[in-house]
Amino acid sequence: MDRSEEIRLIREIIGLAEQKSAYLDETISHSPISRYSSPDRFAREEAALFRRQPVVAAHSGELAGPESFVTRLVMGLPVLLVRDGAGKVRAFLNVCRHRGAKLERDATGCKRVFTCPYHGWSWTNQGDLRAVPQEQQGFPDLPRAERGLRRLPVAEAHGFIWIIANPEISGPLNIDDWLGPVSDDLGWLDLANHKIAVETTIEVKANWKVLVEGGIEAYHFRVAHAKTIAPFFPDNLSTYCCFGPHIRTVLPRTTMPDLANTPEAEWQIRRDSNVVYTVIPTTQFLVQQDHVVWINAQPRAQDHTTLRIATLAPASRLDGDEMQAHWVRNQKITMATLIEDFDLGEEIQSGFASGGNPSHLFGRFEGALNRFNLTVEELMAG
Ligand code: FES
Ligand SMILES: [Fe+2]
Repeated sequence: MDRSEEIRLIREIIGLAEQKSAYLDETISHSPISRYSSPDRFAREEAALFRRQPVVAAHSGELAGPESFVTRLVMGLPVLLVRDGAGKVRAFLNVCRHRGAKLERDATGCKRVFTCPYHGWSWTNQGDLRAVPQEQQGFPDLPRAERGLRRLPVAEAHGFIWIIANPEISGPLNIDDWLGPVSDDLGWLDLANHKIAVETTIEVKANWKVLVEGGIEAYHFRVAHAKTIAPFFPDNLSTYCCFGPHIRTVLPRTTMPDLANTPEAEWQIRRDSNVVYTVIPTTQFLVQQDHVVWINAQPRAQDHTTLRIATLAPASRLDGDEMQAHWVRNQKITMATLIEDFDLGEEIQSGFASGGNPSHLFGRFEGALNRFNLTVEELMAG
């Protein structure tokens, strides 16, 4: 985000506060509940979205040095991420090419060679088949080149490792094309020079879109977050804008409208607001004053989402017990608020089965939610 955009966003909020108006779309909109409750719809989202578009698989700092690796489920696929000796990141299916055992069982570590725990076939961390016990006798003329690890398209950018979770898609992943204009803002956040200070993983019995929707409007703050963050935010004041499929939402603090009485040169958007980036499909960055909360959603079923929530702190501010205690405190405060949202999400999800609402309503100040759902529809339509 450049300085002129920062000033423009703050001016926009000050203007709305002066008019005592929320940021309004032209019309209200409707969101059919089948979007959130249908298993068939979820399967279509998986095929057309989660397994087709770039998703964040890890923070770069999780593959800290040469020969390091991480294994995890990404969009339901068992994935092995490695950084080879030259520092290049690769992504493979964590599945043995002999008879399909899980190749690497550890969540993280350092290895040049991965050896299957079943019959001992092994691969280099560049994915090439290295050794097959008793190969000559059992597998004469084995076409070794065809038995490399299954590769996934991968790119490293803005401090994250992005993959397409689909071994049927080959070729390079052009992440700049996908991120488009939101790249500038991610550069501004400088997340490549942040590290994970604290993280929490939580299972939520709600559709992934219900959870995204909960993070991109301020209409609910006064009521749902009355006991946590509501006092720090003006009632129902937020703006949003789109960067291709991605969305930036500004949630001003109560202090932002007062900036009208201070020199523009002193304005800082991070000091007086939370900025939320929704990077389609399932990544959100909640930008706070001195850190960024990375919300990584793994949709598991139409009514189940695994959320990994991590405090990303500047690498220069991680050392020492005092700093660590500071980040743990921050994470606790963030989680207390997010859990209020997740509990509501679970209640909404359980209400779908009642059939009481054929669709949900988005008010004119909930336009970001409509935009988000329309984007998902557009991407699914191909
Ligand atoms: S299944 Fe991996 S070596 Fe046999
Ligand atoms: Fe909330």
